[in-house]
Amino acid sequence: MTELFDSHAHYNDPQMTEKKVTPDLAYAEGVTCILNAGTNLVTSKECLELAEQYPFCVAAVGIHPSDCGKCGELQDAMQTLCSLASHSKAVAIGEIGLDYYWDDMPREVQKQWFSDQMELARELKMPVVIHDREAHGDTFDMICRYPEVIGVMHSYSGSIEMAKEYLKRGWYISFSGVVTFKNAARVREIVKTIPTDRILVETDCPYLSPVPMRGKMNHSGYLHYTAETVAEQLGMDAQEFAHVSAQNAKRLFKLE
Ligand code: NI
Repeated sequence: MTELFDSHAHYNDPQMTEKKVTPDLAYAEGVTCILNAGTNLVTSKECLELAEQYPFCVAAVGIHPSDCGKCGELQDAMQTLCSLASHSKAVAIGEIGLDYYWDDMPREVQKQWFSDQMELARELKMPVVIHDREAHGDTFDMICRYPEVIGVMHSYSGSIEMAKEYLKRGWYISFSGVVTFKNAARVREIVKTIPTDRILVETDCPYLSPVPMRGKMNHSGYLHYTAETVAEQLGMDAQEFAHVSAQNAKRLFKLE
């Protein structure tokens, strides 16, 4: 494939930097754009630095639900985030959302930080990248409070019905290597129900390596396995799907 957009990566993750796995390796393998997603103020800045260094990288800046209590006072953090978001290569606020799986931060705190970042996205007219782990109901409630804000549900794990609700509101759905897992028949069924103009693909590297690379450290060079599986579910030519999904990402992140 010659035109893949990795809509969610973490090339600043220590696992990747220690092994010197850099975005340019992926570029050589047909990936034409990579969005690195921040998880707190420090990593968001790192994502912007990667975007400065690599012309085909862009960044999302935001505070992950597991990090929201560790970024100082909420108001100060929002001010810093606002200035990071003004960088020319910041294309989204993310990754933000709710995580009730690890549940390492009180839910009320997670909701407050999520809400304030949605508010920031509204003010800045930027899309958002959403992390929702076992918090489908509360995440959806929050999205409904900000109808002007659209974004992408990263590594989608909700139901078909919920996906329909997001699609109705103009949202995009992103699939990761999980879609290739043997036990993920349910996710593959969901893929079939998503209109082709609303699907993105991602690695979430260094995590979630697709089959047949499962167990190895993930990077964007493996994204084609995920794209091929999604294309197959849609009954689409893989190259055509790569092109369409890259266009979707460019539309969402206003890169056209
Ligand atoms: Ni992530």
